[in-house]
Amino acid sequence: MEPMELPRLFDRDTLPTRPRPGTAPAGQDILTVAQFGRPLLGHIFQRADEMKVMVERAGGCDLLRGHVLACLFYEPSTRTSASFIAAMERLGGSVIPITQGVQFSSVSKGESLPDTVRTLEQYADVIVLRHPDVGSAKVAADYAAVPVINAGDGAGEHPTQALLDLFTIREELGAIDGRRVAMVGDLRHGRTVHSLTRLLLQYDVSLRFVSPDTLRLPMALMNELIDQKRDVRETHDVADVIADADVLYVTRIQKERFADLAHYEEVKDLYEITPEIMRQAKEKMVVMHPLPRVGEIHYAVDADPRAAYFRQVKKGMYVRMALLAMVLGKA
Ligand code: NCD
Repeated sequence: MEPMELPRLFDRDTLPTRPRPGTAPAGQDILTVAQFGRPLLGHIFQRADEMKVMVERAGGCDLLRGHVLACLFYEPSTRTSASFIAAMERLGGSVIPITQGVQFSSVSKGESLPDTVRTLEQYADVIVLRHPDVGSAKVAADYAAVPVINAGDGAGEHPTQALLDLFTIREELGAIDGRRVAMVGDLRHGRTVHSLTRLLLQYDVSLRFVSPDTLRLPMALMNELIDQKRDVRETHDVADVIADADVLYVTRIQKERFADLAHYEEVKDLYEITPEIMRQAKEKMVVMHPLPRVGEIHYAVDADPRAAYFRQVKKGMYVRMALLAMVLGKA
């Protein structure tokens, strides 16, 4: 099938100037990690712990019975969409999944993002949105009368992934303060890297960034770290960071964000975490990845107890259960 060309979903010049009244109260949306301070993070992690215990004991509960989630994904997803769906269903709620190709929705007829969310809010109590444009979740939230959760806005942010990443570090290593976190791969386009880095600024951590020159962390974000006098270093080589890392956060080179595919081909195989590299790592540390991986971590690493990426997936469901309960006023 020919890839579908998405219509312009929002063109700021043609949008009505003011969102309609009756939008969700500020703070109920989850758009960026900037919304989360340490007390709220602590509360969410505690709720996620409770969700874990509840799921292990009972499989699910009725907390969100009668509530409906609309899952609106304009970009591919396995984990984020499936975990939101599983989270909602384990809490007794139900889901409208528009995740398997918006080409079957009215988006293919040219419907705008504001109109699509104003339609979905007629059926649903919360909308989870993934969209290729930076700022799209904010636009959706400006128009929706129900809470909007950003499940990735282009190369912008992916706040719920960062929350589950942080929850994973806390569960795996016992604490976040005092840790050295090394991020590897496409730091320029990786929205999970952007959100996690910002969230880690709430903690006393040192940060190491490993990427080729062309895929370095965006300058604005690096400047924030420097302004805050954080212990930060950049390098091209995993060998420079592996021995001291408590967390090795590996990411995929984001092919879909490259304007020039020849450049992608040059950088796509630069990093691969192998058992040989893991031999230089601490005994107590974790390797994480938001997934999908496309060669950055060798399959032979999977059996290493420090490989936390599949455990990370499950913790994501507990965190998203906690977040859905929160935005729907049940936490
Ligand atoms: C990430 C994403 O979509 O940003 N995946 C995810 O949500 N778990 C990372 C990626 O696609 O590389």
